[in-house]
Amino acid sequence: MLEITQTAADLLDQWSAEPRADTDWQLDVYSRFPVSLCRGEGARVWDVDGKAYWDFYGGHAVSILGHCHPLWAAVLAEQARRFDFYSNVSASSLRASACRVLVEMAPANLRRVFLSNSGAEANEVALKLARHHTGRPRIVAFEGGFHGRTLGALAVTWEPKYRAYAPPDYGHTRFVPWGEVPVLGDDVAAVILEPIQSLAGMRTAERAWLHALREACDRAGALLILDEVQTAWGRLGTNFAADYFEVRADLITGAKSAAGGFPVGVTLVDDALASKAKHGDQGSTFGGGPLACAALLVTQHVLRTQGLARRAQEIEVDLRALSPFPLRGVGALLGVELGRPVGPALTQLRAAGFLAGGSDDPTVLRLMPPLVTPPEATRALGAVLRTLYEQQP
Ligand SMILES: Cc1ncc(COP(=O)(O)O)c(C=O)c1O
Repeated sequence: MLEITQTAADLLDQWSAEPRADTDWQLDVYSRFPVSLCRGEGARVWDVDGKAYWDFYGGHAVSILGHCHPLWAAVLAEQARRFDFYSNVSASSLRASACRVLVEMAPANLRRVFLSNSGAEANEVALKLARHHTGRPRIVAFEGGFHGRTLGALAVTWEPKYRAYAPPDYGHTRFVPWGEVPVLGDDVAAVILEPIQSLAGMRTAERAWLHALREACDRAGALLILDEVQTAWGRLGTNFAADYFEVRADLITGAKSAAGGFPVGVTLVDDALASKAKHGDQGSTFGGGPLACAALLVTQHVLRTQGLARRAQEIEVDLRALSPFPLRGVGALLGVELGRPVGPALTQLRAAGFLAGGSDDPTVLRLMPPLVTPPEATRALGAVLRTLYEQQP
């Protein structure tokens, strides 16, 4: 065993020493940080030159346990040795455990799960279920909303720059201004929204507005889909944003940090809808595979047993006290209102050893740190924000 572990390490070292850039082969579609990260531990990552960063970008809002959590790594390695993969054609008690854990932590009406591999897929599934259940074609979505890059999810995504490359068929989508309560016709299957529009600059829903949307859906016989790809799993201090905002959803979608750094998409489904699903209505080869379920189970286990949702609240309290700039958002999903273009600030932050993100609002910087981020990191970030604040814009 020792020998295999050593060979694996040697192979990984060899493959990590590739001199050419991935963009020499990969489609060059991503804008990037000017760093190449190769190692992580807890809330910190290191680049190939050995420079350390506090990861306030959280590996793209994914690494909720921090990087390379020892139990997460051990469970995945053990599962990889026991059974690598079989699809849903085989029953799996590991999958049953993963689904049970998800249902137990979900709001009471959401008793069923569909497992996939990404946020876009989780949303596609929710949109399909809503259309099937209601027999109606139209989806109401919100200006500023982002739901993914597959054609169905893209059709309810607002920002034209994401849709321009291959315009989806959004003839059935009606976009409504953020904060508005639309009058819903009897052709509306569902209303879909993110309770916090992260990419749009952490625009945060008002609780009363969400309740009014729920009532509008109930009046029209439409369903409410909460896209919780960024807000779920304790990041707001509660299991779901639905708990934080105290609003009932018919479908909740999640992905990103559901299983730490392992790709998992989750669609949580109200019992009434679930009872109508038949064999063949939906499927995914990889969804709910053994490694995915092991990663999901260990991630949720660590979140729960270490009470990490509480840390999300503490991170928010600390940063609100430390930041001289106004903050938007909730818990460990925060937008810093710089009031000036974020580009130079992101560069300064990187130089000082902090990763953070931009957004579609050019003046709002995004913070989505792991929930294991220690107070020393938030204090240090607060000091850099103070320096930025004191500089002339
Ligand atoms: C709110 C929201 N929904 C959906 C998605 C799409 O997720 P994925 O990239 O996993 O398909 C994202 C990705 O950033 C997101 O932020």
